[in-house]
Amino acid sequence: MASLASTVSLLEQEAGWRDLRAFLWRAEASDTLELLLLGEADPAERERAVALLEAMEAVDRDAFALLRAAIQRGEGREALAPWLDVGFPTGQHYDVLDHVIAGVLAIEEPDTPLSRLPPEMVFYQPTPARHIVDGVLRAAIAADDVVLDLGSGLGHVPILVHVLTGATARGVEREPAYVTRACEAARALQLAGVTMRVGDARDAEFTDVTVFYLFTPFIGTVLRDVMARIEHEARRRPIRVVTLGPCSRTFARMPWLHSDDPDPEASDRIVVFRSALGGR
Ligand SMILES: C[S@@+](CC[C@H](N)C(=O)[O-])C[C@H]1O[C@@H](n2cnc3c(N)ncnc32)[C@H](O)[C@@H]1O
Repeated sequence: MASLASTVSLLEQEAGWRDLRAFLWRAEASDTLELLLLGEADPAERERAVALLEAMEAVDRDAFALLRAAIQRGEGREALAPWLDVGFPTGQHYDVLDHVIAGVLAIEEPDTPLSRLPPEMVFYQPTPARHIVDGVLRAAIAADDVVLDLGSGLGHVPILVHVLTGATARGVEREPAYVTRACEAARALQLAGVTMRVGDARDAEFTDVTVFYLFTPFIGTVLRDVMARIEHEARRRPIRVVTLGPCSRTFARMPWLHSDDPDPEASDRIVVFRSALGGR
């Protein structure tokens, strides 16, 4: 492996990472520097490496600020376009797109204690950003949709879906501290089409929703009750249900939904279901 000194020298001469769009370049270079720093004792070499890391973070911050300004002008989709070619993504891991989206959306973690999680309700874990993009594309979400994220956590899904499509995007989340942070982030980005409410998914307003999103937020009787309410809507009008995680398997067994996915029980990627009444 190269030494810290030689890596720092190479990067100091390299212009590539200074490009505002070169998030991946900077992320990979930062990982390498941080790894090499672990084995470096020389204070002067450490100082050079830390200065380089700070310079890379500063470029990221400038790039995030430009993307945030584009979102505030209503030009988020165009501005994020260079990072939206996600292919057919799988897996639960996070990648450089999550780093970009986290920097751009700037959603703060709550600093107050979280409430106790009731039985059958799943703890917070955000959907990896590439799956959100994939869901938007494969469910053909558009500006005339009303999207509801059931168990919306810190609000990444409603916020990103609205930015990418113009759809009305809502979230319902049982943990008030998450909803506070999600609403602050949506407000700072001036996104009038995004609302997040504190509540139980079993009691949320479903009547105008065209796309339901679930990243396995609950199991057992809670999932059963919510599914019964989604079924009620599906029997009246065209809806789509977009799922990620083990709950896809449960939806795949519902006769009132169909999917053209070759494996609708897959748990490591987005699965799109449509009600029998059709629609997009
Ligand atoms: C796996 S996380 C998904 C977060 C978000 N949908 C995303 O994909 O980024 C599940 C979320 O559902 C919330 N949750 C669990 N049961 C709920 C319920 N009955 N009503 C509302 N929210 C619930 C949890 O607090 C948690 O934030």
